[in-house]
Amino acid sequence: MKTIGILTSGGDSPGMNAAIRAVVRSAIYNGIEVVGIKRGYAGLIAGDARKMDLGSVADIIHRGGTILYTARSEEFKTEIGQETAVANIHELGIEGMVVIGGDGSYRGANLLAQKGIPTIGLPGTIDNDIPCTDFTIGFDTAINTVIDAIDRIRDTATSHERTYVIEVMGRNAGDIALWAGLAGGAESILIPEEKYDMDQLVEKLQRGAARGKKHSIILVAEGVGKGFEIGEQIREKTGWETRVTVLGHIQRGGSPSAFDRTLASRMGFMAVDLLMKGEGGKAVGIKGGVLQANDIDRVLNSQRKPDMSLYGLASILSI
Ligand code: ADP
Ligand code: F6P
Repeated sequence: MKTIGILTSGGDSPGMNAAIRAVVRSAIYNGIEVVGIKRGYAGLIAGDARKMDLGSVADIIHRGGTILYTARSEEFKTEIGQETAVANIHELGIEGMVVIGGDGSYRGANLLAQKGIPTIGLPGTIDNDIPCTDFTIGFDTAINTVIDAIDRIRDTATSHERTYVIEVMGRNAGDIALWAGLAGGAESILIPEEKYDMDQLVEKLQRGAARGKKHSIILVAEGVGKGFEIGEQIREKTGWETRVTVLGHIQRGGSPSAFDRTLASRMGFMAVDLLMKGEGGKAVGIKGGVLQANDIDRVLNSQRKPDMSLYGLASILSI
């Protein structure tokens, strides 16, 4: 293995830069050159690439986003797009690829592997929705951003004795809502993996109010529906003043947490190690604190759910 290519794809996440740094530095340490491809698979099709030296990844470990930029490429889903990408990989002298992204990016990585390019996937997404890993790079930072927002909203919610609905990201997964809801002390957490009953939710809010609770915070994962609609339903059923905040893309930015930087550094190192050992078609994950390499195929065909024990715990603690 003389040259490795690296790209970031799909929604960015805090810690992607730390992962890029780890791949570049680990590779160069082992005498391997690294080519950075810009804008994910779109850049691979366009042949938009540059050699990365040690200095190219200096001063980025603490930065959110991705210095390689990211994109969503419809063209890469076509046979002709994939053929062009593979031809460019050969043209650039790349013998192994590292793809950092979410499950969509993993589908692309799997296709590259099937076309004979040893490819390693690293889980870079705030959603924490990738099977065979307890955590994805960026999730920890995102939930810390969310609890910071909850704490701020809680201040004003208490002052005005209001009910607040906060809608968070996560695509079809409830992990962000679940973890941030537990850590932020939300009264109710709505996630796509668990059915909810609006009447029971309202009863719980009313019980709390009768006990003298000054505010309520309801966390809604975007996979459940629109926060504004949930807020309206609560207002109609209670007659209370209800406010809604959609946190949106602030959840995707910001300096990565120590956890995400460490995870990204460990995973980036492992990606290079796997390629040096001649492995391809693998996705790096972490289970019980231990790094693992699983077949990307297996990861893509596995089902996952958030840790539902946290859901039960959050319900008990917000009684
Ligand atoms: P994420 O990686 O964050 O889940 P997307 O689902 O948008 O983000 O996927 C990122 C990119 O991965 C897509 O724009 C596309 O280029 C590529 N991709 C996704 N699904 C496939 C697929 N089935 N076949 C080939 N490429 C895919
Ligand atoms: O996958 C990351 C994510 O931020 C999801 O939580 C969200 O549904 C989606 O990307 C938003 O995508 P876009 O960048 O297109 O707004």
